[in-house]
Amino acid sequence: MYPLIRNRRLRASESIRRLVRETTITPDDFLVPLFVVEGKGVKEEIPSMPNYYRMSLDHLEKEVKELWQMGLCAVLLFVKVPDNLKDNKGTEALNPDGLMQRAIKTVKSACPEMLVMTDVALDPFSSYGHDGIVAEGQILNDETSEILAEMSVSHAQAGADFVAPSDMMDGRILTIREALEDEGFQNTGIMSYSAKYASAFYGPFRDALDSAPVDIANIPKDKKTYQMDYANRFEAIRETQMDIDEGADIVMVKPGLAYLDIVREIKNEVDVPVAVYQVSGEYAMVKAAAEKGWLDHDAVMMEQLLAIKRAGANIIASYFAKDAVTLLG
Ligand code: PBG
Repeated sequence: MYPLIRNRRLRASESIRRLVRETTITPDDFLVPLFVVEGKGVKEEIPSMPNYYRMSLDHLEKEVKELWQMGLCAVLLFVKVPDNLKDNKGTEALNPDGLMQRAIKTVKSACPEMLVMTDVALDPFSSYGHDGIVAEGQILNDETSEILAEMSVSHAQAGADFVAPSDMMDGRILTIREALEDEGFQNTGIMSYSAKYASAFYGPFRDALDSAPVDIANIPKDKKTYQMDYANRFEAIRETQMDIDEGADIVMVKPGLAYLDIVREIKNEVDVPVAVYQVSGEYAMVKAAAEKGWLDHDAVMMEQLLAIKRAGANIIASYFAKDAVTLLG
């Protein structure tokens, strides 16, 4: 007992702190989200996500080579779809020559070892901005899952390593897994957004992809009938266990920082890798405060990433991936 035991001995210098540190961040932790647009020579900054860009395929090619050089090994692709290609069923998502399919091929030919994960959901393709088909004011579940399964097969055909359904329809992991098996894609993995909450932290992302739910009579303007109520904890475990039973290889909690209690609980419950998505709103808050000189950008960024890892994340999807790896040196 005190004074024989003094915990400060283990904090006395950076060297002893390094020696006893329980958690560290490395490039291996990151999954880098990338936003892809049509065109050539396009690299446009997203206003609500400073220093983050939508890019055309030529820039995507450069970007993935740079990421690989930096030691980053996995990307998560999202596409921004022109309005004239959007409809209620997300038909364009199944186009074998669609933007997502071309983006997958671009990454794989630029950098064959880069792990490619793809977003699977209807919202960027939906004229209503919903993750599912809308009918009579409802978001249809099983009909949506069928399209998500076709989308997943299409991504696998284009060369995706993992598909990442982000929609929260019931039973979609099983539907997707069966479709992949039937089409011979036994080796294509599924990272399920298993505990995805109906969060206001997704705002900047919806700006980036122009994918926010639209304001039309009889159509819900939020995603609360499919994404989870953020008051709930047990439900997150149930969702996650069901996705694992249905065939998910990796599960995810989203958003990150405000949900680290859920991350830890899920980490304690399951034995598959757990991913955490540090979402667009979390990124925007740090950037905005740093721009005002109110927070130390790099210090807060690393503290938050470390906290996510400490809570139990095996994989962190983060817009800070490049900044963090640059800082790590
Ligand atoms: C859409 C999707 C969203 C995000 C990832 N996939 C937004 C939403 O559900 O409305 C959010 C990511 C972020 O905010 O960074 N299926």
